[in-house]
Amino acid sequence: MNMKGNTILVTGGTSGIGLELARELEKLGNVVIVTGRNAEKLAKVQKENPGLKTFRSDVSEVKEIEALHAALSRDFPELNVIVNNAGTMRTINLHKEGESLEELTREIEINLMGPIRMVTKFLPSLKKRPHAAIVNVSSGLAFVPLPTAPIYCSTKAALHSYTLSLRVQLKNTNVKVFEIAPPATETELLSGASEPEDLKGVSVMKTDQMVRESLRGLERDRLEIRPGQSNQLRFMNRVAPDFILGQLSKPVDRMLRTHSLSVDTSISVDLIMCARASRVGFWQAAPHRW
Ligand SMILES: NC(=O)c1ccc[n+]([C@@H]2O[C@H](COP(=O)([O-])OP(=O)(O)OC[C@H]3O[C@@H](n4cnc5c(N)ncnc54)[C@H](OP(=O)(O)O)[C@@H]3O)[C@@H](O)[C@H]2O)c1
Repeated sequence: MNMKGNTILVTGGTSGIGLELARELEKLGNVVIVTGRNAEKLAKVQKENPGLKTFRSDVSEVKEIEALHAALSRDFPELNVIVNNAGTMRTINLHKEGESLEELTREIEINLMGPIRMVTKFLPSLKKRPHAAIVNVSSGLAFVPLPTAPIYCSTKAALHSYTLSLRVQLKNTNVKVFEIAPPATETELLSGASEPEDLKGVSVMKTDQMVRESLRGLERDRLEIRPGQSNQLRFMNRVAPDFILGQLSKPVDRMLRTHSLSVDTSISVDLIMCARASRVGFWQAAPHRW
């Protein structure tokens, strides 16, 4: 990919990988527009990086994608690269009851439906540019799931698959399709979705190093960029899939311990209530429960 003279849109460019990518791409001589949902974060980014353009837009909202497309078609008709970077990650215990069904699938709307809709909306104009690119940011977890984040990993595996199909379908166009599959990288997303003990044995990459390697990959036209441990995850999934899934499954034990503790607690509370209600002692009430 030609690394300068482009007009580039980076979704989710107000922190972490997106912000670092945006800054570096701007330094290389590109016009860079970043999006995010939070107006305060966007204003801060704008203040600290006057060279970047900002636009508030939520990739999970169809109307906001349409508004973004309309605004950029008017203000930046030369837009020729989109980086689908916006994403969120949640730890989800599938045993938990009462989870809102809408919340449960939020990651799908942001991490998967977002990029698919963005590509569909922007593709007609990208095809008109002499050189264009779509960069989808997936994850090393697209190749092997981390079972404590089941929905997140499903979205990244699906985004990887979609990117492969998109690349084949666009083979006769001027639009190159790249995928960046970051490994664990030191950002807000990682600290929000993992406990320190879950990261034992994981080598967490600095954001600037991850972005440097990604930019080198883009420059060399490496269509699937897998920095650091992402490459190892993909390799291990081919040669020893059960072993590598076992390694990534270790944090589930902690999660299940927490779950069974909460079940025990609720049983104890039930027992106390039951004992109080029947005016008998706790241990007298217990056998009725078991
Ligand atoms: N960090 C890692 O270990 C790691 C590993 C593999 C892959 N990745 C991927 O890398 C990408 C960037 O993640 P990060 O680690 O840099 O996380 P981050 O620091 O939390 O940044 C996420 C960015 O996405 C924006 N965002 C979230 N939901 C959005 C939405 N619905 N619409 C528009 N923007 C939205 C956030 O801003 P607002 O919240 O203000 O909207 C923020 O700018 C994600 O796709 C993530 O899955 C990260």
